[in-house]
Amino acid sequence: MITGAANASVGRRRKIIAVGVGPGDPDLITVKALKVIERADLVLVPVTSAGSSSVADAVIRAHLEVETVPVVFPMTRDEKTRRDSLRQQLEALRPRWESSESVALPVIGDSALYATAAYLYGVWKRLEPSIQLELVPGVSAHSLAGARAGRFLALGEEIFSVVPGTARPDAILQVLKSCDSAAIYKPTALQDNLRAMVQSAGPWSEVLRVDRGGLPGETILRGDAALSAPDTYLSTLLLRR
Ligand SMILES: C[S@@+](CC[C@H](N)C(=O)[O-])C[C@H]1O[C@@H](n2cnc3c(N)ncnc32)[C@H](O)[C@@H]1O
Repeated sequence: MITGAANASVGRRRKIIAVGVGPGDPDLITVKALKVIERADLVLVPVTSAGSSSVADAVIRAHLEVETVPVVFPMTRDEKTRRDSLRQQLEALRPRWESSESVALPVIGDSALYATAAYLYGVWKRLEPSIQLELVPGVSAHSLAGARAGRFLALGEEIFSVVPGTARPDAILQVLKSCDSAAIYKPTALQDNLRAMVQSAGPWSEVLRVDRGGLPGETILRGDAALSAPDTYLSTLLLRR
């Protein structure tokens, strides 16, 4: 049971709300995501460099007129570089978030899957151990890719695997060989190895790649064409036996 005093102290804690806004099509954001973003005291949006556009920001702007504050997420796998950059930005924004009870972090797709918000939350938690995390789910890129394929992702006992192209190649291969269908996120990381890896785990009845799904310039590639090295980070590969 929560006592009145304990309840009051919980109420004072800052909430960081990672909000999935879907893969980019403004029609694929949820009503809940819009409500949470509209009610938040502060909205921080991820960008890849200062002044660059943000897919999450564009989705929000299609529906709401709220102020959004960009946070640069350096595109690096070096954890220390990323952490230092995020910490410096959070310190610079301290006056803004110290006066905010709820801070929304909109991210593309779902908020719990390979979401940039996790890095910001990790750094924030060190600065302010009492912050609480909330997650608002969103439509993931693999759901959009399944819809574009016009096929069910998995049925009955079939195993559907979600794999990041950034994982160890031997681990990716092992997973692909043992599943019935799969989504490969961040296939850009595999570059010219993509084709050989997917083919050696085949045969597949469906190979489909969605680049910039739901966004201007969306491209759908099927079969061998889908296994060329993607030139956009917003690319998801779907495989089905
Ligand atoms: C950092 S992860 C974010 C995943 C996201 N949280 C989700 O649930 O879809 C970025 C990867 O998501 C996938 N992705 C996100 N949006 C996409 C889109 N509009 N079209 C194709 N792939 C997309 C790509 O594989 C991209 O490399």
